[in-house]
Amino acid sequence: MKAVLINAFGGADVLRIGEVETPSPGPGQVLIEVIATSVNYADIVQREGNYPPPKGDSEILGLEVAGRVSALGPGVSGWSVGDRVMTLVGGGGYAEYAVAYADHLIPIPQSMKFEEAGCVCEAYITAYLNTFMLGALKDGETVLLHGGGGGVNTAAVHLCKALVPDAKVIVTASPGKVERVAELGADLVVDYKNRDFVEEVKVYTDNKGVALILDHIGAAYLASNMKSLAIGGRLVIIGVMGGIKAELNLVQMMVKRQQVIGSVLRSRSVSEKAAIVSSFTEVVVPLFERREIRPLIHKTYNLNEIVNAHEAMESGTHFGKIALRL
Ligand SMILES: NC(=O)c1ccc[n+]([C@@H]2O[C@H](COP(=O)([O-])OP(=O)(O)OC[C@H]3O[C@@H](n4cnc5c(N)ncnc54)[C@H](OP(=O)(O)O)[C@@H]3O)[C@@H](O)[C@H]2O)c1
Repeated sequence: MKAVLINAFGGADVLRIGEVETPSPGPGQVLIEVIATSVNYADIVQREGNYPPPKGDSEILGLEVAGRVSALGPGVSGWSVGDRVMTLVGGGGYAEYAVAYADHLIPIPQSMKFEEAGCVCEAYITAYLNTFMLGALKDGETVLLHGGGGGVNTAAVHLCKALVPDAKVIVTASPGKVERVAELGADLVVDYKNRDFVEEVKVYTDNKGVALILDHIGAAYLASNMKSLAIGGRLVIIGVMGGIKAELNLVQMMVKRQQVIGSVLRSRSVSEKAAIVSSFTEVVVPLFERREIRPLIHKTYNLNEIVNAHEAMESGTHFGKIALRL
């Protein structure tokens, strides 16, 4: 089968299309003919050699796929060859065929195209897991989402507006994306390059701070995030684009009864991911079915344009997801 291969870790130019053996599904797994996938920021980090796949997962890049079930592994029931499915994969998405666990499959709603479905799992499940299952965002609370123009964060804004319409959503964005984030429904957008989000949060919340922060900047934002968090607030850290080490004032954290939660989706066990997927399928997939939300696709590339697709993500000019068509 055709797949995107890496000669050596490095910039986008290390990516090339090559031929590899088609994988076979093991017990509890299915083989999927991949019709669409998408670029996630983690793919860039893996390509650079800093995010190896969990043991047992494919070395090929790509964390999610949409396509048709092509073969069932031993012990799989409830799925048939030809079913339209979307799913998380630990790796292997940038290829004509990928192996996934049957317990992680989500039927693609009739109203959804493969291209959209290939942009659902990594971004929306990450947003759902961390904002709702771990972050426990409720109506009446205020949430701060960083980088509202990215894949995960456009998904997070969609989910907040759809699932907790009475929550207030504050989003940080670079100047060129502020208007589009506001159009997504954010209640306040802070241009993080020219404004101090701590001050803006303070004014907006009448000095109370926000109940939840979804953060992928890490060290560079830790102090400011803690200042922006309300008493009893939760800070969920899902990325480290701004560094991995920072100081935390534990006394202030204790006195304000705040929680700092670290979370990664990819390295979770098969059964943990199955439980998350099951909750997501029940709560979020009907929103896609009814077209109340749909993935925001910045641009779709063919697989043989993978270098351009990675360069586009690294330029940071995208708004929403970068889709890949097989
Ligand atoms: N832990 C997990 O399980 C998990 C799963 C999926 C993704 N992630 C992480 O989530 C992050 C986003 O992934 P993605 O695929 O959605 O990437 P993406 O589409 O490239 O989005 C990244 C966003 O970060 C924003 N950003 C960069 N610097 C910023 C800053 N200083 N302040 C605020 N925003 C800033 C960018 O906004 P501007 O363009 O406006 O600057 C961009 O919208 C990555 O760090 C990724 O590793 C974690």
